[in-house]
Amino acid sequence: MAKEGFNSKAGAIAAAAGSAVGLGNIWRFPYVLGQNGGAAFLLIYIFFMLLIALPVLISEFAIGRKAGLPVMAAFQKLAPGKKWYLIGFSGVFCAFFISSFYNVVSGWTLYYTYISATGQLTTLSESGIEAMFTQTASDPVVCMLWMFVMLGITGFVVSRGVEKGIEQYSKILMPILLILIVIVCIRAVTLPNAADGISFLLKPDFSKITPKALFEALGQSFFSLSVGMGTMTTYGSYISKKQNLSQSAVSVAMIDFFIAFLAGLMIFPCAFAFGINPGQGAGLVFVTLPNIFNQMSMGQVISVLFFFLLVVAALTSSISLLEVVVTYLKTQFNIKRKYATLIAVTCIALLGIGCSFSTTLFNFFDNISANVMLPLGAFFIILFVPHVLGRDAIKAELEAHGGKFKLFNLYFFLTKYVVPIAILLIFINNILSWMGINTFDK
Ligand code: PFF
Repeated sequence: MAKEGFNSKAGAIAAAAGSAVGLGNIWRFPYVLGQNGGAAFLLIYIFFMLLIALPVLISEFAIGRKAGLPVMAAFQKLAPGKKWYLIGFSGVFCAFFISSFYNVVSGWTLYYTYISATGQLTTLSESGIEAMFTQTASDPVVCMLWMFVMLGITGFVVSRGVEKGIEQYSKILMPILLILIVIVCIRAVTLPNAADGISFLLKPDFSKITPKALFEALGQSFFSLSVGMGTMTTYGSYISKKQNLSQSAVSVAMIDFFIAFLAGLMIFPCAFAFGINPGQGAGLVFVTLPNIFNQMSMGQVISVLFFFLLVVAALTSSISLLEVVVTYLKTQFNIKRKYATLIAVTCIALLGIGCSFSTTLFNFFDNISANVMLPLGAFFIILFVPHVLGRDAIKAELEAHGGKFKLFNLYFFLTKYVVPIAILLIFINNILSWMGINTFDK
């Protein structure tokens, strides 16, 4: 096949894992969990991951591979003359929104690599580390410049169509990131007061479960797995027919969850050891980790490596986001990849400038994309499976490698009833709580 894609069998799966694993695991997951009370949120998150986000991932892979086309064209081919392709269209918007704040956070990460390398973090006290982040996040020029650098690198990679090269590197670099995370975890859980952080993460307090927590756990599970906007549908089109799709989706979800969990195990003991508020929001990773690095032998080297590898993880995710927009512009307006990238990067840069200047805008994009757009996208993708594709077609695709999908009946039941109803209920519940009607008896 001479389409843009991945040659090696495992390539497409590695790329999907590269899209899934990113800032969502190490930056977003701990801060959202910290704001929603800890362990109870973790439990709901696991539940949603297994029962809702994973079936959506399996479905996206199957739709993409069945059509053999990127998201918009895939829905056009499988439901000709119908409006389902609008799912791809909303995915393009969502990619813009996510990219705008995602690149700002990638920019912070790159900036932290730089200030680690130049020793500016090593000399700081605990309060100095906190002040450093506040200063970084509230300086629009710093945010903007480093965001431009990250966006520039992402744009360069996408315009040359060399994602495959990056995937090659990331296949080597990501296991190193994992090893580093484990090392930092070991240091974190042996800090004084670490036990408080561990019980924050592992000992559920169910009174902390609110409509908002449910809503945010759902959004985070979609954000982290990159589902609900067609990215994984496009990756599905690159996966070979010989691959077992459901197994691949389970592997991606397991890797993704494992890394998010380890990030929690790194960050919360550290937050409790250094008296940092775990619910403080988007700066959590940046105000906790430098404290551990400063307590480790070779801490500076570990710090530089850690932030650098986080930049790489962010890059593979932001490439997948930009690719969604570029593929759309390229096919819709019949323009060259180079120009499509230039237009996309310019628009994202404009939104990114907004996010650099305004925390409100930053939080708005962060919230609306993960908690509203992705669940809505997922809702329609999941309706498509039983109601348009139908049971036999999806089963045939999921078993195209020649094996049997043993849990197919469970998957189909989840897809037909549980996932759409759960998304609707969680939405309604949250709207009611916004209106001041408390649906939870506490
Ligand atoms: N899953 C990515 C992360 O956890 O960092 C973020 C993301 C990438 C979301 C691509 C959606 C997407 F299409």
